[in-house]
Amino acid sequence: MATTKFETDFAAFFDHGQAFAFWKGRVAMYAILKGLGIKDGDEIILPGYTCVMDINPVKYLGAKPVYVDIEPCTFNMNTALLENKITAKTKVIVAQHTYGYPCDMEAIMAIAAKNGITVIEDCCLALNSTYKGKTVGTFGKAAYFSFQWNKPFTTGLGGMALVHDPELAAKVKELQAQAAHPSFKEKAMLAAQLAVYRTFIYPRTTALAQSAFRMLTKKGAVVGSSSTAEFSPEIEEGFFKQMSCIQARSGISQLKKLPANIEHRKQIAALYDELLKQKGWPTRKYDHSIIDPVMVRYPVRIKEKAKALEAAAGAGIELGSWFECPLHPIETPMDKYDYTPGMCPEAEKASAEVVNLPCHPRVSRRVAIKTVEFITQFTPA
Ligand SMILES: Cc1ncc(COP(=O)(O)O)c(C=O)c1O
Repeated sequence: MATTKFETDFAAFFDHGQAFAFWKGRVAMYAILKGLGIKDGDEIILPGYTCVMDINPVKYLGAKPVYVDIEPCTFNMNTALLENKITAKTKVIVAQHTYGYPCDMEAIMAIAAKNGITVIEDCCLALNSTYKGKTVGTFGKAAYFSFQWNKPFTTGLGGMALVHDPELAAKVKELQAQAAHPSFKEKAMLAAQLAVYRTFIYPRTTALAQSAFRMLTKKGAVVGSSSTAEFSPEIEEGFFKQMSCIQARSGISQLKKLPANIEHRKQIAALYDELLKQKGWPTRKYDHSIIDPVMVRYPVRIKEKAKALEAAAGAGIELGSWFECPLHPIETPMDKYDYTPGMCPEAEKASAEVVNLPCHPRVSRRVAIKTVEFITQFTPA
């Protein structure tokens, strides 16, 4: 079966753990948390710079998300603030590797061990980044990945749980077997979307395609990555689904191209560093002797974010806007997700300033140059 092969190939790529495929990344996260026995009243620590889809699984299980502010260069959880957030109810720390930058895993693992807390890794934005030579996704008890269209590689929609603890793996396997199968209609729409994506979506058409997809998602004509029902912290019917064969087949072929994809991302990010430096703009800041990031997108801070995003769409420039607020997207009713404005000031500042540049395999040198020419018309923040 395609799904089993995709899972085996995925775990083999990491040479670590057992993989379990799901309909989306958030579904894989839900399976991990449920497998860990997370329940009413438990607290889960996450960075206050994420998307609401990453908080929903926590809320669905009755647990409380507790947010830690980020540090401004890597946009990851500031580990100096972590210990203060731990209470007797804390069960899990979610180490989200943002934009491709690995978290400070040594600090996170040490704090978790000292307090008897489980670490899971959100690798939805980081595939094959390394921390002290070790691949992210292999530090915690489990990790989850997303294969949604703007992630490191895409199967249209898709998610994977990579589990390193045999007891947890047995639970996730059992849960996966109980998950619903995608409907015939969902599979057919996904296949059509994948075909459109492969044929038509290039950096210059992304903004256009994105707004068309959003409009069609609202009308129920495509299987969108997010529906408005997911702005509510109650689980919606049909959320907990397995991966379809269409996704798995696409995943198997994407995995074969992964080494080239990773190399390309590294080259494009280095090119952005070089081009921005030539323009006198700030570039990525991280400790090269500790981390080796594979960027899913390249974050840049600017003063006129809204203006730049609007102009980009018209100019055929692929500019991303995550995260628009600490719990992306901007429509998220933050109070329902236990976030009070001012809780994470660095995350709020980053949300107001950061746009991101594409690094995916369809970004050529020419596109990267054009993108930097475009973004440097604005003012660095
Ligand atoms: C950091 C992060 N975690 C988790 C997810 C959830 O992934 P998916 O859309 O596959 O459910 C996303 C994106 O949507 C994300 O950006």
